Amino acid sequence: MTAEPESGAPAASNSDSAAETNAGLAGDLRLLSGRRGLILGVANERSIAWGIARRLSDQGAELSFTYQGEALGNRVRPLAGRIGSNLVMPADVLDDAALDSVFERLGSAWGTLDFVVHAIAYAEREDLADGIVNTSRSNFRTCLEVSCFSLIDITRRASALMPSGGSIITLTFQGSRSVMPNYNVMGVAKAALEGAVRYLANELGPRGIRVNAISPGPMRTLSGAAIGGARRIFRTAESNAPLRSNASLADIGGAAVFLVSDLGAGTTGEIVHVDGGYHVLGMPQPENL
Ligand SMILES: NC(=O)c1ccc[n+]([C@@H]2O[C@H](COP(=O)([O-])OP(=O)(O)OC[C@H]3O[C@@H](n4cnc5c(N)ncnc54)[C@H](O)[C@@H]3O)[C@@H](O)[C@H]2O)c1
Repeated sequence: MTAEPESGAPAASNSDSAAETNAGLAGDLRLLSGRRGLILGVANERSIAWGIARRLSDQGAELSFTYQGEALGNRVRPLAGRIGSNLVMPADVLDDAALDSVFERLGSAWGTLDFVVHAIAYAEREDLADGIVNTSRSNFRTCLEVSCFSLIDITRRASALMPSGGSIITLTFQGSRSVMPNYNVMGVAKAALEGAVRYLANELGPRGIRVNAISPGPMRTLSGAAIGGARRIFRTAESNAPLRSNASLADIGGAAVFLVSDLGAGTTGEIVHVDGGYHVLGMPQPENL
């Protein structure tokens, strides 16, 4: 016996109409349909920012991108094109005029902005190899300016386009709180970045703008590879993390979907770890001692 549809509407009678129904449903259920956001920090396909962009796009978000320098522009434009984005703009975060132009273009193209993903950090290679005690004033300044001040600067600019609230995400690392091999000045910059997340969250909360950080474990990206001993660090994290794996780009993207969407409506000023649980450890697993 076949059950009648409750509404009296004819039941889907073939696989085409069933597929149409599912597609319609999927469209309705996407968490970020109609939301628009800016992604800063894609260098290539392995970038955390790209992993996040893909997940946000899968959930229906419309994205714009910035890139640092023309060489990276040639990589970022085709990637953005794959997810239907042609709003791709140059911006070095040390260049005020470039940032002015990015936010002017966003203002005239979209009017408002729903979210920003800030996935940018920089330290001189020598400071990632030679410890912290010899860090020069000039290298310290550059590292903190690119890796921390830029979040404050971009949040100020973006929040002007968020009259009805929004979500801002940055990327940090556990080297902000615990000493990690060869992280040095970058650990200090990430500690400052996490402090900035808390102060920005508090200041912008009354305007409905949430500010959070995602803290992934070590990832095989261009920046990740610049840390001395990256391969061993990656393996150590993987073999000791409670989940016995590092997070994937898709896992990090999943956390970003939560933070950008209404699912994260009550979360701000938070550091969300996506590191297989590594940050809870005080020592390696017994089998690795
Ligand atoms: N790879 C890891 O292990 C790891 C772990 C935790 C957090 N993170 C953080 O994730 C973020 C993204 O890094 P990633 O690992 O995807 O590496 P990545 O090299 O793919 O991305 C870093 C990005 O920073 C950009 N950048 C650096 N200086 C800039 C400047 N002056 N102006 C504009 N852009 C600039 C680069 O162009 C690049 O796109 C960084 O904040 C990084 O610290 C990385």
